[in-house]
Amino acid sequence: MSHDHNELEPYGAKDGVDVVSGVPVFPMGEHQLRRADIDPKAAKRAELQVASMFGISAICLLGAVISYVVVSNTLFINVPMVGKVNANHFSVGTLFGLGIFLIGAGAIHWAKKLMPDDEIVQERHSLTSAPEERAEVAEIYKRGAAETGIGERKIIRRTLLGALSLFPLPLIVMLRDLGPMPGTRLRETIWDEGIHLVTDATYRKIKATDMQIGTLINAVPENLLEVEHEDENLNERGKASIILVRLDPADIVSQQGEGWDYQGIVAYSKICTHVGCPISLYQQRTHHLLCPCHQSTFDLSDSGNVVFGPAARRMPQLPITVDGEGYLVATSGFQEPVGPSFWERG
Ligand code: FES
Repeated sequence: MSHDHNELEPYGAKDGVDVVSGVPVFPMGEHQLRRADIDPKAAKRAELQVASMFGISAICLLGAVISYVVVSNTLFINVPMVGKVNANHFSVGTLFGLGIFLIGAGAIHWAKKLMPDDEIVQERHSLTSAPEERAEVAEIYKRGAAETGIGERKIIRRTLLGALSLFPLPLIVMLRDLGPMPGTRLRETIWDEGIHLVTDATYRKIKATDMQIGTLINAVPENLLEVEHEDENLNERGKASIILVRLDPADIVSQQGEGWDYQGIVAYSKICTHVGCPISLYQQRTHHLLCPCHQSTFDLSDSGNVVFGPAARRMPQLPITVDGEGYLVATSGFQEPVGPSFWERG
């Protein structure tokens, strides 16, 4: 280690600043000896502390093995603040955890109190190669290029350039495998006037009177049952899924259309307008709907507007009412495209 500068200054610093960037640097400070460095009794104490931790750890680990064999697997005990737990699991877990913890704690204590703690300065050197080495590399490169004859062999040069310029073409053509362009398919869903709202798992029609304030139901259009082809059915379900929430009508600040709720029951698309994750994390107190993917948050009491997160567009609302028997029905389809904003393009 050579020290041709102030011992207390990091290498590359002079008078408290980095010589290249001019940024202030902190001096290293005087080396402080620890108690155990100067007092043999303190060193002995630290040694005993470390040994005790390792010793107790060994006992705990053995205890864990014995508990595993001895403590009945059907015995339950009451642990304060935890409640009823399996005695075997509790004893094995506690002893094993403590054993591992004490090995770590002992090692840290050992390193901090007894192992050498010298401050070491490792001087940096320039990473740039010597000028002769750089000149040599440039020379090798030029010689290599000359040896290929690319300068004189025009036909090879041209055909190579032609091949390289066509290289991206197959990759572009293979984009076709991503499927047909969506066209307007993603703008339309199978919701329409008079279509009943049904629960998404059991396809049961939903009565307005079954919903209390704060109730959230995942729903789909009843005519989804008519889409028999499996892939088509999945596509339509993906676009048409909605969530229904009953709010206190007095809490509704705005809606996307006049009277689009039914007595405080509002229906919104379930597909996040950011990149399309399905959402049903609803907070009743704030009326916020939270997308678990990137935390976009929509206010269902205020037209489904974005209140937080990367979504650039509100959640589309589905206008609803009830039929003669009190079952919820749509009064039309969505008035704006559901799903990620990307699909609105073009
Ligand atoms: S998909 Fe919902 S926030 Fe990104």
